[in-house]
Amino acid sequence: MKSDMNSISLNTAGFQSRSVRPRRPSGLANAVLLSLVVGLGLPVVASAAAPAAPAAAAAPAQAPKADLAKGAAIASQVCAACHAADGNSSIADNPILAGQHAAYLAKQLHNFQVKPNAQKAERENAIMAGFAAGLSESDIRDVTAFYAAQTIKPSFAQKKDVLALGQKIYRAGITAKGIPACVGCHAPNGAGIPAQYPRLAGQYAQYTKTQLTAFRSGARANSAQMNKISAQLTDQEMEALAEYIAGLR
Ligand code: HEC
Ligand code: HEC
Repeated sequence: MKSDMNSISLNTAGFQSRSVRPRRPSGLANAVLLSLVVGLGLPVVASAAAPAAPAAAAAPAQAPKADLAKGAAIASQVCAACHAADGNSSIADNPILAGQHAAYLAKQLHNFQVKPNAQKAERENAIMAGFAAGLSESDIRDVTAFYAAQTIKPSFAQKKDVLALGQKIYRAGITAKGIPACVGCHAPNGAGIPAQYPRLAGQYAQYTKTQLTAFRSGARANSAQMNKISAQLTDQEMEALAEYIAGLR
């Protein structure tokens, strides 16, 4: 499936020629895509077919390169107890980090940190606040690049009876409640769209459900889009989505 919306918006933005290069997309391309998605409104996203990968461009030449060996050392010394050394956490409360987009992981680590002059973190979590606080900018760059480069050992759906509902909402949203299709931003196979839209596929259902609940209550307040989308979802719908997502490949 291919999204007319995204190809139109990218063509309009003049990034078409770059789409042949499967590299990390530039912040600009994503900003354009994001503003178009927002500008078009969520119901439009809901009815749009799944997007193709966005136009991509090489990272800025001056950006320092991530040191994967240093990232591996941080992962095994600091993060492994909860996320496993290769990012394939074995505990359903601790998200799988393997194969997640580095820019998304880095955003979360920054959001867990309480910035100087801020009352609280943008994403409040008692456990991660401490671990994120201990990371320098280069640590974040290295450890997120390392986890992004690992291969996911995906979780799987356990409650088969809710999968049909989960699939329906994931693919088509709930028009009557103004809930957009998840595919519009997270892709049909749940791989997400770097850098803004995280991979969801294969994540533990328990973790995904916790996040949807936290977005709905505002306990996780680092995404206006997800706060709005989750506001109208019931517990049953969240569970169905979380189970379906766990089984996505
Ligand atoms: C004591 C356990 C523990 C340790 C150690 C730990 N984490 Fe976490 N981490 C968690 C939990 C629990 C969450 C889920 C928080 C939530 O529910 O919002 C999490 C969430 C995250 C997320 C958000 C993932 C997402 O999909 O949004 C990132 C990124 C992350 N951790 C990176 C790290 C890194 C890097 C380290 C090492 C420097 C680390 N964590 C160490 C427990 C831990
Ligand atoms: C308009 C785009 C958009 C749509 C549509 C969308 N999402 Fe998201 N979603 C995002 C963004 C952006 C983030 C990253 C938020 C952040 O930066 O912390 C996200 C994050 C998430 C996360 C957190 C992942 C993690 O590792 O912690 C979950 C779970 C999620 N979305 C589920 C869904 C589901 C289920 C749907 C459909 C009902 C959906 N999303 C529809 C944009 C979207």
